[in-house]
Amino acid sequence: MSRAQITGWGKCLPPAVLTNDDLAAVTDTSDEWIVERTGIRERRISHVHTSELGLVAAKRALAAAGVPADDIGMIVFASASPDVLIPNTASALQKQLGNKDAAAFDLNSGCTGFVYGLKVASDHLSNNPDSPVLLVGAERLTWYLDWTQRDSAVLFGDGAGAAVLQATGGDDGILDNFLGCEAEAREALMIPDFGTAMNRFEPDPTRFELRFDGREIFRHAVKGMARACQQVMERCNTTADDIDIVIPHQANERIIDALADRMGVDRGKVYRNIAKYGNTSAATIPVALTEALEEGRIAPGATILFAAFGAGLTWAAGLMRWGNRIEPLGTSDAELAPCTSTGPELIADAVEFFRRGQSQPA
Ligand code: UT7
Repeated sequence: MSRAQITGWGKCLPPAVLTNDDLAAVTDTSDEWIVERTGIRERRISHVHTSELGLVAAKRALAAAGVPADDIGMIVFASASPDVLIPNTASALQKQLGNKDAAAFDLNSGCTGFVYGLKVASDHLSNNPDSPVLLVGAERLTWYLDWTQRDSAVLFGDGAGAAVLQATGGDDGILDNFLGCEAEAREALMIPDFGTAMNRFEPDPTRFELRFDGREIFRHAVKGMARACQQVMERCNTTADDIDIVIPHQANERIIDALADRMGVDRGKVYRNIAKYGNTSAATIPVALTEALEEGRIAPGATILFAAFGAGLTWAAGLMRWGNRIEPLGTSDAELAPCTSTGPELIADAVEFFRRGQSQPA
């Protein structure tokens, strides 16, 4: 049986840092509260659009796989913060990469986008083994934030990660996925008036809010992810001891710990980099995967469990067996345009705007 294997990986984090102390200077919060309740110490603020973050991560992943862009048969761009709604962002990547014919579409399942994308890639490759997939998770979530809303403003950051998937012809690769959505709770995380629900003819049509019930999401997150993980583990006859590393969505360190405890997985096996980046939504897992490889946390043949939850409220898990290669085949010299501003400088206009009780600036 031929399985889909990740053969290339890459990340792109914008350079400007916003620390908890920077946030405490603009809203009613503290480094102590944020670290204790979330594990986050700092996050990145992007000076470029989401597609540009995704493009750099994609070029790095292609180089790591040693796959020319033109060989890619499908581009999946997982994001809830595309540059524009029409056309999709995957087509922008196709154009920038110089690829001619790949199927290209965006996937919005919120923070589960990368794990949902693994399922799409796996299914595609089982029918089209000669058609590699480029899967990107990229977000510029800070664009949506009201910096005066301390409960949500402290959580999110910008970034991108990418993976190239190819058919292995062997036993390794993606073993199983389990995806779902608990739509009863969909209003716990939403931007209700952005899109065609927006009143275009209001004096200020750009006005929108981020509705957010952190406690409600927390509760559903642990239950939903644990259920998805149990499903894939049962279906693959895998026990907690068989798992070498868990790569979970990075939304809150307490959620990560609660998941590990519920699954009976040693907390030390659970990868975390939330302290550096906060929640980058669909990008957390490919960024974490890339860093786990860079840090030597993934050995050849490792059994990896992915788990995520997000707006919807969607949940997802994926189980895979890594291949033999843990080193990239090549590197890319792709870089973002230089950034000359600091994190606080990049958010200064938005902070001012929301302090005056107005909507998002352009
Ligand atoms: O990936 C999908 C999106 N991710 C999420 O939705 C994250 C899920 N939820 C969470 O991570 C947590 O629920 C939060 C981090 C958002 C909140 O943590 P919590 O332990 O559930 O806090 P809480 O909402 O129960 O609030 C506790 C207190 C409240 O004050 P009172 O009512 O006890 O006086 C809040 O007003 O903490 C207050 N608070 C803050 N204080 C300082 C809430 N946000 C902040 C803040 N700084 N940033």
